[in-house]
Amino acid sequence: MPETPWSEVDRYIIDNLVAHDPALDAALEASDVAGLPAINVTPNQGKFLHLLARIRGARSILEIGTLGGYSTIWLARALPAGGRVVTLESDPKHADVARANFRNAGLSGIIDLRVGRASDTLPRLSEEGLGPFDFIFIDADKAGIPEYFMLSLGLSRPGTVIVVDNVVRKGAVVDAASTDPSVLGVRRFNEMLASEKRVSATTIQTVGSKGYDGFTLAVVGADA
Ligand code: SAH
Ligand code: DHB
Ligand code: MG
Repeated sequence: MPETPWSEVDRYIIDNLVAHDPALDAALEASDVAGLPAINVTPNQGKFLHLLARIRGARSILEIGTLGGYSTIWLARALPAGGRVVTLESDPKHADVARANFRNAGLSGIIDLRVGRASDTLPRLSEEGLGPFDFIFIDADKAGIPEYFMLSLGLSRPGTVIVVDNVVRKGAVVDAASTDPSVLGVRRFNEMLASEKRVSATTIQTVGSKGYDGFTLAVVGADA
């Protein structure tokens, strides 16, 4: 047994609890073949997001950071008939891979993929009258988390669930002297949360095949 058996335990959990799905498997394979970085959520994390969206009864989902669309497919699979996902991606190559993955999964009709920097595409969603969303997953560049979170609040209503990925950064988040833009983004986000009356939030540290990280879960509410 290795000193940190995190990957082995992830494998064990996935083998037992996460059924093989041809479209999800194909999405990862196509992302790998296209040379995309393997920074997608793990299968057990993808299913966790899917279950959270189902618990929320989400009919409209917003994702910031598509990559090859692996997490997007998990989220889209949580929707009832008539539900929709909007997903935002800045890299056209990633978006091309994701688009093909959505088509292969039979989900093109319910996933609206927007190519562009989230700081540009998020305000456009409001202008178009899209939202409020029931569930929002923030998983793009970490320096942008404070901005994406504020814009997400504008696309929320009471009961909206917001999940933010990668907020522990191998523990670097506690380094007040850090100059890493990702760490600075997460720390600024936590300062915002500390004084934000519109949400109630907590953060859970995680380990697994992607190492040591964590996610924040926030709910928007009048009595947050
Ligand atoms: N949610 C995906 C992983 C996303 S990885 C999954 O779990 O399957 C982060 C993605 O955010 C990358 O594809 C990256 O190109 C994209 N990204 C980075 N900066 C961005 C920005 N400013 N606006 C939109 N997307 C961005
Ligand atoms: C990394 C991991 C992620 O889950 C992500 O969304 C972006 C980057 C990383 O490990 O670099
Ligand atoms: Mg992530």
